Amino acid sequence: MKFRSLLFTLLPILSSATSASDPDPLSYRTISPAYTLPKPANVTTLLDFIASRSDLSKLHASIKQSGGFQEAFDTNPTWKFTFFAPNDEAFNHTGRYFQTFEATPKGKWWLGNTIIHHYVPNTILESSVFNETYQRFQTGTYLFVGAQTEGDNLLLNKVARVVESDIPITNGVVHIIDRILEPSAQIHEADIPWLKQSFIAGSCSNPALPYC
Ligand SMILES: *[C@@H]1O[C@H](CO)[C@@H](O)[C@H](O)[C@H]1NC(C)=O
Ligand SMILES: *[C@@H]1O[C@H](CO)[C@@H](O)[C@H](O)[C@H]1NC(C)=O
Ligand SMILES: *[C@@H]1O[C@H](CO)[C@@H](O)[C@H](O)[C@H]1NC(C)=O
Repeated sequence: MKFRSLLFTLLPILSSATSASDPDPLSYRTISPAYTLPKPANVTTLLDFIASRSDLSKLHASIKQSGGFQEAFDTNPTWKFTFFAPNDEAFNHTGRYFQTFEATPKGKWWLGNTIIHHYVPNTILESSVFNETYQRFQTGTYLFVGAQTEGDNLLLNKVARVVESDIPITNGVVHIIDRILEPSAQIHEADIPWLKQSFIAGSCSNPALPYC
């Protein structure tokens, strides 16, 4: 009898996890709205900034698609950061494969990682820190992006151009770029010098770490 009632209790759970109407094995990725921290009126979060710009509408849509990103990007940051915001033109250069892939569960996972690859925690990288030497810096994915100035332009990974630089927001700086920075296109050359940046836990921004 006990077993029977347990089975009846479990049945709805089991069937909801496997029913044909919900074939998506990654449906748990949908995070329902959680508690959000209060945001003081004088704070401009990354999300406030992105939402305020008509040329960042595709980035804004991508953030909404990635579970938890809206809340994270709308947090009043107590740390410094740099964000390279890909504009709508950048998303226009992604091609048909991107659009098809982006809609799949794996594509959403990839999109979230890609957005994080544009975020540098703990360090404000103003355009003045770059020069014509090709240097690298590490992003929130722990992967590297290369940067150098070419004439008046700052180029990332030799393709993404900074079209508007040094936009200050609360505790951070934003640069607008015209191409997406793909995590798998990270630079691997260990002999490329490194821009000075603050420590990212688990990353190589502390060169004393044995695996760096
Ligand atoms: C916002 O206002 C509070 C209270 O007046 C102040 O302590 C804080 O430094 C301000 N923050 C910013 C980013 O200006
Ligand atoms: C992006 O592509 C769409 C559709 O082709 C076009 O309407 C839009 O003007 C393009 N935007 C930018 C910023 O290139
Ligand atoms: C560029 O800056 C780095 C340090 O930020 C410096 O080591 C390097 O010599 C500079 N290169 C040029 C060409 O000024």
